[in-house]
Amino acid sequence: MHTEIIQKVIDKLGYTSYLEIGLDRGINWCGITCKKKVGVDPVIMIPKLEYGDFFCWGNETIYRKTSDDFFASCGHPVADIVFIDGMHTFEQSAKDFHAASRRIAEGGLVLMHDTNPTSEIESMIYDTYMTEHPEYQGAWVGDVWKTIYALSQSGNVNYFTLDIPYGLTFLWLDKSKEIKPVYEDVAKLPYSFFNKNRKDILNLKPVTYLGEFLLARTTC
Ligand SMILES: C[S@@+](CC[C@H](N)C(=O)[O-])C[C@H]1O[C@@H](n2cnc3c(N)ncnc32)[C@H](O)[C@@H]1O
Repeated sequence: MHTEIIQKVIDKLGYTSYLEIGLDRGINWCGITCKKKVGVDPVIMIPKLEYGDFFCWGNETIYRKTSDDFFASCGHPVADIVFIDGMHTFEQSAKDFHAASRRIAEGGLVLMHDTNPTSEIESMIYDTYMTEHPEYQGAWVGDVWKTIYALSQSGNVNYFTLDIPYGLTFLWLDKSKEIKPVYEDVAKLPYSFFNKNRKDILNLKPVTYLGEFLLARTTC
């Protein structure tokens, strides 16, 4: 479902450059059409394709590296739209957001996946999750929600979350504002806090809200 949403955003807002952090088997990547596409993943598993550390064909470039390494050496602006779907931890998703938001084109958007875990087990950090629940076959959504909570406390990041499986949060900055996230103590927050305040923390919207948002962005 997130692929259709991202494509709709690209088409409606006339975006010409797309960056995806975390490609996995390329299911989303292969479904996205954009004039320029850049993908980053240290462990790329796109079937039938073999990559060196850098692979480029047509309008698509893929880097086999971590997002930290990619952002440390990428150009500016990096893209009109950045889809963050890499390491699902608070620490890494926060780093990815800051790196992306500093380098995004004017009028661009950062979209972050996996912001809405629906159970404590889905929200566990990877090591705990694998060790304590080796039998678990469901999704690993992680604690990316803490990044959204930290940004929400800063009061200077605009965002909302579409209520699709695992959650898809749209984030953008006002040109005049600096990001001042509040990270203290957020790492320690339990899942129960998120579960109780889910709608407010995520600014949760039904998927139908996307049309309203895109209309407002195109007419302002
Ligand atoms: C959920 S999958 C991505 C799914 C893909 N975006 C899609 O929608 O089809 C997460 C991917 O993030 C990658 N990843 C993990 N740590 C990363 C990092 N530090 N930088 C970039 N990618 C990372 C993993 O290798 C994995 O392939």
